Amino acid sequence: MPLLEVRGITAGYGDSEILRNVTMEVGAGEIVSIIGPNGAGKSTLMKAVFGLLHPRSGSIHFDGQDISRHEPYQIVELGMCYVPQVANVFTDLTVEENLEMGAFLLRGDSIESRKERIYAIFPRLKERRRQRAGKMSGGERQMVAMGAALMMNPRLVLMDEPSAGLSPVMVSMIFERIAEINRTDGPAMLIVEQNAKLSLAMSHRGYVLAAGENRFTGTGPDLLNDPEVGRLYLGG
Ligand SMILES: Nc1ncnc2c1ncn2[C@@H]1O[C@H](COP(=O)(O)OP(=O)(O)OP(=O)(O)O)[C@@H](O)[C@H]1O
Ligand SMILES: [Mg+2]
Repeated sequence: MPLLEVRGITAGYGDSEILRNVTMEVGAGEIVSIIGPNGAGKSTLMKAVFGLLHPRSGSIHFDGQDISRHEPYQIVELGMCYVPQVANVFTDLTVEENLEMGAFLLRGDSIESRKERIYAIFPRLKERRRQRAGKMSGGERQMVAMGAALMMNPRLVLMDEPSAGLSPVMVSMIFERIAEINRTDGPAMLIVEQNAKLSLAMSHRGYVLAAGENRFTGTGPDLLNDPEVGRLYLGG
């Protein structure tokens, strides 16, 4: 049984239907990428999985449980966390306070031990723990957002464009950390990326979404080597 199973969902905003009959799954411990053009509905799919938007038809199961009508706080309790595309940190809070906000369901000692784990993954956050998140660089801010999501030691992390707006060196660094976290702590990762080649290269599997519909799916290498996917979605 997959950890996350999205079956034929249709979803949208008001009168507009954005996702049509979208199906995808993520296995335990798997890294899965969703790629596709701007406006394809990638962020909308993430929001639907996290309960910020309820599907009009179809279903979403997490760990065998139907979460199609769940609210985000209930989904967090089940072990899923979400790093949004924008506004993903509390800018007026310090780095450390941001991590603590991510741990709102944890108690005492476990907060401290998780913080140490996050600081081990991102030493920069430890150096800057008293700095306000709003004063951090784009890449550091992305580390804060990921660190806060990882505080709950989730089984699935949703990341919407973790490399957006970062310099090439920082992009590689963020992707390396994602792979390392997956290897060592074992959470599954569902990643939406414009940096499609890099993202597919470290993914077990991927999906191409276009105009709100499934277009292609396969292993990371399969999609990278598919001439049609290359021509249409990977810039040749
Ligand atoms: N809150 C909203 N209300 C109305 N329409 C929305 C809303 N959010 C997104 N849309 C529309 O839904 C469509 C899909 O948007 P979405 O953000 O899911 O695309 P995306 O694939 O994530 O694009 P990008 O690569 O640019 O981030 C777009 O046409 C967008 O204008
Ligand atoms: Mg988006």
